[in-house]
Amino acid sequence: MQKNYLMTNYNPIPVTFARGEGVWLWDTEGNCYLDALGGIAVCALGHCHPAVTKTITEQAHTLIHTSNLYHIQNQLTLAEKLCAMSGMDRAFFCNSGAEANEAAIKLSRLHGHSRGIAEPKIIVMEKSFHGRTMATLSATASKKAQAGFEPLVQGFIRVPYNDVETVDQVLANDSDIAAIMVEPITGEGGVYIPNDEYLEALRELCDRYNCLFILDEIQCGMGRTGKLFAYQHYPHLFPDIVTTAKALGNGIPIAACLARGEAANLFQPGSHGSTFGGNPFATKVALTVLETLEQEQLIPRAGAAGTILLELLHNKLGFNPHVKDIRGKGLMIGIELDKPCRDILTIGLKHRLLFSVTSDTVIRLLPPYIMTDEQLNMVADRLAAVINEYYQ
Ligand SMILES: Cc1ncc(COP(=O)(O)O)c(C=O)c1O
Repeated sequence: MQKNYLMTNYNPIPVTFARGEGVWLWDTEGNCYLDALGGIAVCALGHCHPAVTKTITEQAHTLIHTSNLYHIQNQLTLAEKLCAMSGMDRAFFCNSGAEANEAAIKLSRLHGHSRGIAEPKIIVMEKSFHGRTMATLSATASKKAQAGFEPLVQGFIRVPYNDVETVDQVLANDSDIAAIMVEPITGEGGVYIPNDEYLEALRELCDRYNCLFILDEIQCGMGRTGKLFAYQHYPHLFPDIVTTAKALGNGIPIAACLARGEAANLFQPGSHGSTFGGNPFATKVALTVLETLEQEQLIPRAGAAGTILLELLHNKLGFNPHVKDIRGKGLMIGIELDKPCRDILTIGLKHRLLFSVTSDTVIRLLPPYIMTDEQLNMVADRLAAVINEYYQ
C-alpha cells in the first residue's frame, strides 16, 4: 500500500479515474461510469471535449503565462465577450470560485467606504456556500465548514434564504450595509430554488438602500439552468456583481468577477490582483468553452435536458416514500432523501453512476450539458436502482 502524503481534508470514495470521454469516465480497472456530476458542475462540455483539447494543445505550444504586468489579448477578448453576454461592464479574472467571491467582497467594502461607512457589512444567507478562503468561509452558512477556523472575518449578517422581509428589516435598521450576496439557486446548501419574486425584490432593496447586489453564480451559472446566468431568466434583472467559475474552463482553473456601473470601477491599480488570474492559456480555453456552448447550442439544451431529467426522476422516484423532494432548474437537480445518505455514493459506484451528496440528505446531479435523452434516461434508471438498493 502506497503511503498517503496528502493532507486529510478530503475523504474520497474508493475509485480512481484514468480516462474520460464525453459523459463517461473509466476507472483504473477499466470499468465505465456514467458521470452525472461532471466534476461538480465543471465539465459542462463533457470530458476531453475535442474543441477544448485542441485549444489546450495549441495554446500550450503558443503561450501559457506572462503575468498581469502586461496586456493579455485573450483576457481582453474574454472580458469583452463575457460582458456582452451578461450585461456587465468589466471583468476581473482569477482561478477559483472562492477568489471570485473574495473580489466581490472586497468590492463591497470599497463601495461601503465610498459611502462613508467605516465598517461596511454584507447581508448573506442561510444555506449559502461561497468558498473556503477566510472571507468566503465567513460568508458561508455552514457551521460545520467554519468549525475550528475562528475567528471568522467580521461584517457578515446572516438572514434566512428566500425571505425578503427580514432583509428589508435589517436594511431599515442598519445603515452600515454595503451589499447583499446570494446564490440564485443554492448549490452546496441543498439545491433550493427561491420564489420567483425573490431576486427582483432583493434588487429593489439594493437600489433603495444604495447597496451592491451580488449574485454568486459559481455553480448555477455558465448555462446550467438554461441561460448563461440564472438571473437572465428575469429579462430586466441585473446584479451589480456576478461571480462565475466552475464550467467557465471546463476543468482548466479560471474564474471571473464581473461588475457593472460604479462597482466596475472601484478597483484601482494595486488594489487587487492575482499572479495566475486570466493568463493567456486559461482565458483562451474559456473563450473556446463559450464558443462551443454557442455553436452546439448547449445552453438551451441544458434547460431542456433538465426538464426531461426532472420528469424522468419524478416518474421513477416520485412514489418512493424515502424520497422527500425532487427539485431543480436545468441541469442542477437535488433529490432529498429522508436521512443522511453519504454512504449511498459507494452504491452509486456499484451501479456505475457518479453523483454527489450535499447538505447531508440531498443527492445532487450536475451532469454535462451534452447528455443525450437516452443517457438522461440511463441516469434516472441507475439512480432509481441505487436508491432501491440503499433502502433494502
Ligand atoms: C456557489 C458557490 N460559490 C463558491 C464556490 C467556491 O468555488 P471554488 O471551490 O472554486 O473556490 C462554490 C463551490 O462549490 C460554489 O458552489
